[in-house]
Amino acid sequence: MPAAAYTDEGWFRRERELLMRPLWQFVAPGMLLNKHHAFVRRKVCGVDVVVQNFNGELRAFDNLCLHRQNPIQQQPQGVRPLVCGYHGWGYASEGDVNNIPFHDEAYRFPAQERDCLRLRRFAVARIGSLVFVNLSEKPMPIEAQFSPAALDMLRAASEQFDDEVLIARLETRFNWKLAYENLRDSLHPRYVHPRTLYQQVKFKAHMDEAAIADARTYHAQGSLDEEAHLARLRSFSGGGLNEPLVKMPHFSWHENVERFGTDDWYLNWLLFPNLHIASGSGGYSFIIEHHQPISAGRTDLLVYYVTARKKRRYPTSAAVLMAHLEGAEGVLREDIDIMEQVQSGLQLDAPRANLGDFEFANMAIERWYMDVMDGRHAL
Ligand code: FES
Ligand SMILES: [Fe+2]
Repeated sequence: MPAAAYTDEGWFRRERELLMRPLWQFVAPGMLLNKHHAFVRRKVCGVDVVVQNFNGELRAFDNLCLHRQNPIQQQPQGVRPLVCGYHGWGYASEGDVNNIPFHDEAYRFPAQERDCLRLRRFAVARIGSLVFVNLSEKPMPIEAQFSPAALDMLRAASEQFDDEVLIARLETRFNWKLAYENLRDSLHPRYVHPRTLYQQVKFKAHMDEAAIADARTYHAQGSLDEEAHLARLRSFSGGGLNEPLVKMPHFSWHENVERFGTDDWYLNWLLFPNLHIASGSGGYSFIIEHHQPISAGRTDLLVYYVTARKKRRYPTSAAVLMAHLEGAEGVLREDIDIMEQVQSGLQLDAPRANLGDFEFANMAIERWYMDVMDGRHAL
């Protein structure tokens, strides 16, 4: 792809409109939203969005108070009614204003005007324990974005997540696409993670000749029609078993959780465009990585650490998550360093990348992405 796809702010804004906004965007794992008044606040495609639980129903709105545009929820997550802290306006499940303190004395909106006060609402979908929003006025069905197999697999894995979660936020200086090109590149771990991840998992290039031939043809010709274009999109999300673990780690806390599956493998799920879930422990614990594009050259990485669901409470569970974070952060840092290096080398007139056969997945995604950006296929 041209270097501008990674560096140019005008490109970034177009990408946000043409690609990101029409797609379903991950907001948070569901355990953060499981009780009445629980909320998460996230920037989605540049929009301040709040997802709030009203008696078990999840609703997503603009997080901007209709009075004087104060953000209604101030924290990234928590449990608190949807009430603005500036002058106390309260909001109900339809986004309607259900309380304006001192209305009759001080504001005196005509009834008609007051009835029209309603937050802009966005579509919400929950797949197992993963919550997504869509900012379009006419959202595509989530089934158009993810295949039935991907949806089933996500449900099965995420329903196994425990309720206790540790969240870390890393500010990085690379374009979000570099992270996913890197995640689909199975040759880098031996060079970038020789003393960490590569010790546990011997990643290798999978030369699926049929898939390679298909990606080459697709890269040259593109999709015939809109239906084929959407089918391609669905093919970008999936995962599961990745590689066997060299040595399955055993910890005493494993006894306290219900493991996901029985395979002593590195598990890895990629959800287009910007969500990655992995288990480096054969299903005893998970890491959820959400890359939030901030600008062409900046990406916030929100990382959630969870174990598989507890069978019983145990006193060291917080320490387990902390150790999980410390172990994973070393690997994440190695990737971040590489991607920041690549980003810093990308000048506007940089020569194009040269992808080999093993990078067939990136090849196909590049074609699909450029078709969207060049307006050959809309979403
Ligand atoms: S700005 Fe929200 S109540 Fe005034
Ligand atoms: Fe990596």
